[in-house]
Amino acid sequence: MSNEPLVLGIETSCDETGVGIVRGTTLLADAVASSVDEHARFGGVVPEVASRAHLEAMPATIEMALAEAGVSIGDIDAIAVTAGPGLVGALLVGTATAQALALATSKPLYGVNHLAAHVAVDRLEHGPLPRPAIALLVSGGHSSLLRVDDVTADVTALGATIDDAAGEAFDKVGRLLGLPFPGGPHIDGLAVTGDPRAIDFPRGLSGQRDLERHRFDFSFSGLKTAVARWVELRQRDGEPIHLPDVAAAFQEAVVDVLTRKAVDACRQEGVEHLLLGGGVAANSRLRELLGQRCTAAGLILRVPRPGLCTDNGAMVAALGAALVESGRPASALGLPVDSALGVEQVSVG
Ligand code: KG4
Ligand code: ZN
Repeated sequence: MSNEPLVLGIETSCDETGVGIVRGTTLLADAVASSVDEHARFGGVVPEVASRAHLEAMPATIEMALAEAGVSIGDIDAIAVTAGPGLVGALLVGTATAQALALATSKPLYGVNHLAAHVAVDRLEHGPLPRPAIALLVSGGHSSLLRVDDVTADVTALGATIDDAAGEAFDKVGRLLGLPFPGGPHIDGLAVTGDPRAIDFPRGLSGQRDLERHRFDFSFSGLKTAVARWVELRQRDGEPIHLPDVAAAFQEAVVDVLTRKAVDACRQEGVEHLLLGGGVAANSRLRELLGQRCTAAGLILRVPRPGLCTDNGAMVAALGAALVESGRPASALGLPVDSALGVEQVSVG
């Protein structure tokens, strides 16, 4: 019998209802129900629709995860749940479920940070995390550069976006190019046949003056406006727009800045391990360029497979197991949700 903790994790911070089960660093089940199709016609995630979808999907998703792992709820050693950041109504569905399970099974409850969970998930793919590591987290809701000395207790924010998240920029540019929501994967697909040098779009917060104050921060809203203006001018003049070129040039501008700053953070901190996470980590050009730049800089890059990079319950369970293994205290049964939970707070009281 393994003495590694068997942990069930619940994720409901945005539009994915995720229930994952891990034993230590071994993934046993990863059940995810997404409400993304229900939001598509609105061009973005509608919080009330997301909350209701979590409520409807939760029981079946828990059943699916338990069946996939071949365990019963009574076997579980601890329950972990995302307590923030995220949409407050959506978070509440997850925490209420986790509280009920913890109460019914008399097992400890861990309310965890969604961003730290995105980092911890790599335990399931590549084993225990290197210490220290720099993490680049890029998704529809967040874009952060972190220094992670201990994912259970010591996470430092080096920088973050000052406006749109990277995935949000992909989705907004996708919308203005007439692509379905979410735009990220469509832009990635279109860009394959486009020329990234066809248009010279701006690299946010990369000029000398900006770097002095915002060395590890990101800004994507100026880039989005530049793409909108470029398209408008062509349309006004009746000139043809080659969508693959626009997609490739936009994508290159995002990916160039993300990779440059991530490698710079490793250099400045003297850290040789870089971890990539979040939904945008599925982007083929980001993975390619980051790989090239890490190799050139002598850095070791760890990227979980795309299914673990997007929001899921296994990442929450992975962080929960790390907290149990490190002997960190459990949360109170009535744990709070915090829609703006700071990235440096790994778990809540
Ligand atoms: O982590 P995630 O599933 O949910 C959030 O926490 O936001 O990330 C979703 C985001 C969306 O903005 C989506 O467009 C983006 O990840 N995304 C991509 C790709 N696949 C997903 N962006 C660029 N290229 C992709 N291949
Ligand atoms: Zn996320």
